[in-house]
Amino acid sequence: MTRNVSSIIAGTARDTGTAQTNHNPANLDSAVAEIALGDAATLVAACEAARTAQREWAATPAPRRGRVIQQIGRLVEANKERLARLVTDEIGKPLAEALGEVQEIIDTCDFFLGEGRRLYGQTVPSEMSDKQLFTYRMPVGVATIITAGNFPVAVPAWYLVPALLCGNAVVWKPADYAAASGHALFELFAHGGVPDGVLNLVLADGEQTFAGLERALDRGLVDKVGFTGSTAVGREIGALCGRHLQQPCLELGGKNPMVVLPDADLDLAVEGALFSGFGTAGQRCTSLGTAIVHEAIYDEFLARFTAAVEAAPIGDPTDDVVYGPMLDARFAERFEGWLDLIADHHNVSGSTGMGRITPDNPRKGFVGTPDAGLYYHPTIVAGIRPGDTLYDTETFGPLVGVMPCADLDEAIDLANGPGYGLSSALYTSHPRSVFRFRERISAGMVSINNSTSGAEAHLPFGGNGRSGNGGRLSGQWVLDQFTRWQSVNWDYAGKLQKAQMDIEDVPADLDFRLER
Ligand code: UN1
Repeated sequence: MTRNVSSIIAGTARDTGTAQTNHNPANLDSAVAEIALGDAATLVAACEAARTAQREWAATPAPRRGRVIQQIGRLVEANKERLARLVTDEIGKPLAEALGEVQEIIDTCDFFLGEGRRLYGQTVPSEMSDKQLFTYRMPVGVATIITAGNFPVAVPAWYLVPALLCGNAVVWKPADYAAASGHALFELFAHGGVPDGVLNLVLADGEQTFAGLERALDRGLVDKVGFTGSTAVGREIGALCGRHLQQPCLELGGKNPMVVLPDADLDLAVEGALFSGFGTAGQRCTSLGTAIVHEAIYDEFLARFTAAVEAAPIGDPTDDVVYGPMLDARFAERFEGWLDLIADHHNVSGSTGMGRITPDNPRKGFVGTPDAGLYYHPTIVAGIRPGDTLYDTETFGPLVGVMPCADLDEAIDLANGPGYGLSSALYTSHPRSVFRFRERISAGMVSINNSTSGAEAHLPFGGNGRSGNGGRLSGQWVLDQFTRWQSVNWDYAGKLQKAQMDIEDVPADLDFRLER
């Protein structure tokens, strides 16, 4: 079935615009959706609608907003299979992973439905009599959220659910190549009870989105920007928001390291490297970048990792595979460029070929019809060194680097070297190594004896350095992105009481000393 999808502003579809057909990347002959792409003006109009709707939404009692979140969670649960199938069709994520992705939305709703009854402020003692101090969490206003298509529904929900719960109105711009999945999620939110205009959907390409955001910020229509995507675009958005004295929430790329020490369970480490390196065809921001392996077990790890990758089922995402196609043609093209970074001193393993899987460049054991989709060989590149472009560049796709280290200290330096700081993993059985790694690693997320990807939905998610500006999504921590603290002084003394000045001294004998 081909769906027709378009932007939705204040409940009304905007179905004129540039036409784009989204094809199933696992079956390029099959059209998943016909998209009407809007432009910069569409984004500005959506921000205007959000501005108009926000006041009433903010005035809706928070427990009622929590109820809306609860209903969205129920609807997503009732539509779990359908939404997951659409995600698989549109971006080629294996169905089991797509089901997990939809579950992550349900988990997020489960967490935040109760937050509607908390959203706590504080009572704070005053230094003066007859005066009360309080704090309140205030919604920020209009949040414009721009998301990537590798997690076309779960990552948007990390923003949308708390932003709405906190009383903000939202303009959401999903990735154009995942627009049908985005549109479906929008419908579930609308049917769950989000009023028209409180959530608006804008379908547009990156250039028009940026131009629209510039205009909307100039006109004071946007109070918060959330962006998940590349470091390069994150820098542009950060600079733009900075000019407006705003701090966006930026969730950017990663070159996520996995350190393997001699006391690790090697089979477990190999299983973790396979899943985090090649799950979602390496197209997660949390995907494994480089395995940094102690020299005492380097050869053994590489041999076992190579054997595991060679044996991994790859192909049709509706089947039981480790990964399916690339998300979209633009990612396939970019991945081919990164393969060019492989140099003479590297050793490639993991498959029966490199690059696109075709009948002429086959993958042993491929599941399905290779040239029906955008399938790529898994590629292990051993012998990575600092100075290699592959060492410090995120390669979004099925490519994992492997490099040796002499000890944990060197491993941590190599892990931090690329300057990202999203996720990381350590395989060891020694608590001292665990805590030394945790203290010194630059990443916002650390896994011990587990993969770099697959964070749980209620822990802080976010990175440092080239991976983001320190913002954190999920759990209670995301509330700081979508609310601002208001402090309230309430004086009922009937006279002006001046802080720091009208305070009584407490008598004390400060020359007092105990007898020797
Ligand atoms: C992303 O790739 O942008 O931790 C998010 C994980 C997933 C989310 C990845 N739960 O791998």
